[in-house]
Amino acid sequence: MSDDAIYATNDDAAMCKRFAVKQGYWKDPYIQFLVKAGNRKAPEINRGYYARAEGLRRLLRQFMNLTQCACQIVNLGAGFDTNFWLLKDEGLVADVFVELDMRAVTSRKCHMIKTRSNLLEPVQASHGADPVVIEDAELHSTHFHIMWADLRDVAQVEDKLNKVGLDKNKPTLFLSECVLVYMPPEKSSALIKWAGSTYNTSMFLNYEQVNMGDRFGQVMVQNLRKRTCDLVGVDACMSLDTQKARYISNGWEGTEAFDMMTVYRNLPGDDLYRIERLEFMDETEPLQQLMEHYCMSWAWRDTLKIGLDSIGINR
Ligand SMILES: C[S@@+](CC[C@H](N)C(=O)[O-])C[C@H]1O[C@@H](n2cnc3c(N)ncnc32)[C@H](O)[C@@H]1O
Repeated sequence: MSDDAIYATNDDAAMCKRFAVKQGYWKDPYIQFLVKAGNRKAPEINRGYYARAEGLRRLLRQFMNLTQCACQIVNLGAGFDTNFWLLKDEGLVADVFVELDMRAVTSRKCHMIKTRSNLLEPVQASHGADPVVIEDAELHSTHFHIMWADLRDVAQVEDKLNKVGLDKNKPTLFLSECVLVYMPPEKSSALIKWAGSTYNTSMFLNYEQVNMGDRFGQVMVQNLRKRTCDLVGVDACMSLDTQKARYISNGWEGTEAFDMMTVYRNLPGDDLYRIERLEFMDETEPLQQLMEHYCMSWAWRDTLKIGLDSIGINR
């Protein structure tokens, strides 16, 4: 799969998120400044994005609350993610929040932040008197950094994080949302291993495909391949057990994994009641099938004993 095809996956994800936000699934006043409105999406796609966005944000919040924001967040393959802004609006600002992606993506995101005050002002507000530095397809401020790096090159990732002074002893959450599956398995394993062995109190949170060995999964892989989008990392996505095994074989202490149907059912009942009335769905089978083919998995290493094993989908 070419790098062009890899970073094009970001436009797709961002447009789907923007559409779901427009339909009222969750609030995100920032995504509209990063991506144009795409075509209408089926209700099950919108509900899938809702479970993904809200499910991940609930875990991010728990980590930030547990550490009282004395923590670092590294979003690997962040694309046009807006969690820095959304969490800041809730009063949750990590000591350092870093986004890494390919240069073609960080360059566009930095340009949009620079030219849209709705995106720039919140970054400036948490920064201080000096202007936020945006140059060479990167952004640097007190709490927020966007940098380019190839995640297949662990040495480059490490070098970039060292440059912004990440502290290896401070609680650190690595997030990869629909990213590892585009990397060869030995490269994603190397990244996961490096993260857990370098940051001694850390969590690795991953969202991607699962159950890819069954008929539905195989069709998904074939359809994506036709669109020149090869899921080269699909071997780790055979089951929840293969997802968990990748963490354990790469030295992490503990791990959890849930398919997205389970995550969805554990979201707050009043919000589910609200979103299930947004769009009519004739049958629930397509939703069920889709949600059973994506998962959230995470792993922890808790040297400081801050209680990382208490983080869960129903809290
Ligand atoms: C499907 S998009 C997801 C974007 C974002 N995480 C989200 O969920 O909205 C995948 C992202 O991973 C990035 N990515 C994939 N492989 C990468 C690599 N080797 N190095 C850096 N970024 C990579 C792509 O450029 C793209 O922005």
